[in-house]
Amino acid sequence: MTSKTAPPRRPFHVDRGESLHAWLRHMRDHEPVYFDTTMNSWRVLRHADAVRVFSDWSTFSNDMHRVMPAQEFIDGNLSALDPPAHKNLRGLLSQGFTPRMLGPFGSRIESLVVEILDQVDDRGEFDLAADLAYQLPLNVISELLGVDREGREVLRRCSDAQLTLSTDDPTDGAFIQNREEAMREILDYLREHARERRARPRDDMISRLVHAEMDGRRLTETEIVNFSVLLLLAGHLTTMGLLGSMVACLDEHPDAMAQVRADRSLVPNAVEEVLRYLPPVPDAGRVTNRDVTLGGVTIPADQFILISLTSANWDERAYPDPARFDIHRKPNPQLAFTHGIHVCLGAHLARLEAKVALDVLLDRYPAWEVTGVDWYENNTICAPRRLTIAVERHG
Ligand code: HEM
Repeated sequence: MTSKTAPPRRPFHVDRGESLHAWLRHMRDHEPVYFDTTMNSWRVLRHADAVRVFSDWSTFSNDMHRVMPAQEFIDGNLSALDPPAHKNLRGLLSQGFTPRMLGPFGSRIESLVVEILDQVDDRGEFDLAADLAYQLPLNVISELLGVDREGREVLRRCSDAQLTLSTDDPTDGAFIQNREEAMREILDYLREHARERRARPRDDMISRLVHAEMDGRRLTETEIVNFSVLLLLAGHLTTMGLLGSMVACLDEHPDAMAQVRADRSLVPNAVEEVLRYLPPVPDAGRVTNRDVTLGGVTIPADQFILISLTSANWDERAYPDPARFDIHRKPNPQLAFTHGIHVCLGAHLARLEAKVALDVLLDRYPAWEVTGVDWYENNTICAPRRLTIAVERHG
């Protein structure tokens, strides 16, 4: 059966997500795979169907060119490649992102968190979303790429432009053109930066990539530049969402907050539960290589699919009582980083940033109170836009 329905408009993450989750729950029960005419995409809502899509790359492709207008941002953009090209490039790039490689970076992240808080908390109240959640991952990616203060401002302008882009239809030509326009400055900047590192290597990722070999060849300048931009696009606003949502969730659940404060070994589990409860990336995209039946519906070849991570992470078939924020949840097969060959390359780094940031906040402030929060009303990111907190320092 091929069903094309026009469901009600998807509510944004406002009212603490209540209307969104009521609607998703109804759809998971009645139409778990459907064609969303407003988004011009098929949507997949159940956890098991999401895992099936992510596990079957030969049917569900990341190569979007068939359904989207031509894009420049392809070479070196891991998230747009299928095997075998994806496997070779990911093998090379992932060397810099293993827990072993990132372990020593933990103390550097801690210094970055402390530096940020030193600048803002003497007022007793600050905006954790803008001052810490936005700033920390930007500083971390800047250090990974080895860009200076001027480069950091270029990165910032690129992220800020992404925040203004929101679309109903991810295959819309105007949307893609605007996104590429917003990337022009950073692509030019990073091209110069890569050339400079080729001439004068330093101890940063770009210098390593410039000299790395894959299948007996060096990466091209375009591959290096596009991968670097991908790190910013994939790693900045997403981690911002995790950091802000973590503080918002703990504020809404004071019992969980008290338990984490009393037993720091709960921090990693608490971070996992935040990722389940409020996945920073609401949807992941794929394109069908052939006709396929999913959730009782036949999706034709060459169709765009959006897998709702927000819905899969609250699927009552995968989680008992999904609306409960439970930092003891085990197992917790949350899909915020997806699953399979494209699973987020920066997942260890994002978890490390969240863990270190929460530890520093708990060490530094014996108590804090969230005094205001509002959220981005953007369908590509779930994150607090403003989260003011009043903090108490140790005497
Ligand atoms: C909480 C923070 C983060 C979240 C929620 C997140 C989420 C995601 C998601 C949903 C994908 C798409 C996977 C797919 O299509 O199946 C992805 C891919 C990716 N992420 Fe992350 N991400 C986060 C942080 C980071 C960071 C810090 C970095 C690096 C600095 C990063 C780098 C990447 C890369 C390179 C990919 C492409 C992987 C591939 O296609 O093989 N991410 N991430």
